[in-house]
Amino acid sequence: MSTTVKKAELHCHIEGAAPPALVEAQAARYGVDVSGFISNGAYVWSNFTEFLTAYDGAAGLFRSQADYALLARSYLEGIAAQGAIYAEIFVSPDHAVAAGLTPAAYFDGLADGIAAARSSTGIECRMIIVGIRHLGADKVEAAARIAASRPHPLITGFGMAGDERFGKVADFARAFDIARDAGLGITIHAGELCGPESVRDALDHVHPSRLGHGVRAAEDPDLVSRIVDEGVVLELCPGSNLALGLYPDISHHPFDQLRRAGVRVTLNSDDPPHFGSSVGHEYQLVADAWGYDAADLTGFTRTSLEAAFVEEPLRAILL
Ligand code: ADE
Ligand code: ZN
Repeated sequence: MSTTVKKAELHCHIEGAAPPALVEAQAARYGVDVSGFISNGAYVWSNFTEFLTAYDGAAGLFRSQADYALLARSYLEGIAAQGAIYAEIFVSPDHAVAAGLTPAAYFDGLADGIAAARSSTGIECRMIIVGIRHLGADKVEAAARIAASRPHPLITGFGMAGDERFGKVADFARAFDIARDAGLGITIHAGELCGPESVRDALDHVHPSRLGHGVRAAEDPDLVSRIVDEGVVLELCPGSNLALGLYPDISHHPFDQLRRAGVRVTLNSDDPPHFGSSVGHEYQLVADAWGYDAADLTGFTRTSLEAAFVEEPLRAILL
């Protein structure tokens, strides 16, 4: 994909962006065996639950502020080389605390990496704190309280990731109210592992401006109309969806169908080395599949910037 097409992504989990080689280097430093989830330089998993295990294993090897600075910097410099000018990363205090970090050291490390990448490439980045759904409503609410304390100026949003098959969205509504009341942007993973009902629940109980994935709304025309009418932006991750087996190949992915229906669609990598994705790869994938030209692709970037959880003066500069 041409680097002259400016790109932006709104949906990348920072722990999921750790390349296997970096994780192996961390493992050697900390004396940890990663053969259970990395083999021949690649992550090994065969379903979503195993993916989460590999994800958690990799996350457990980032244990200091400097480790997270390195991870954020390498991810951002990598996508800047693909033409990205803006990114939002999902950050998970639960993973950081499990690895022995304080939330403050975690955010400071990520911010150090963001600052370093900004000064070497010009890329801008903001952080979205996520609660992890399968850890339960209390943990997600605790993550929301951390976010609502506005612990760092680069933290501008709150969301929920994790296993969508766990619990009911309504159980998590209070966490989102806490975050929204603190002025944070709101997004939620829905319509990835579960179908249209899950998306409807997310819209009804959480009122997000964006949906993480939301792709399976395509199975219900009335729901697609609602998403169009409400102007909800979809953080679509086609490469992730293919890797997880939601669709057999890109020709069966509803990206173009949703776009034609008037949905505001964006392109995102989700967990790049797990899914063989990257923001540049996602742009190339859809361009090859549906013949989009540079103006079409720039339009997706524009939608991302319009929907970004970023201060208005910077949005105006980026747009
Ligand atoms: N956490 C990391 N990647 C995820 C995904 N694709 N869905 C839900 N939670 C996630
Ligand atoms: Zn995700």
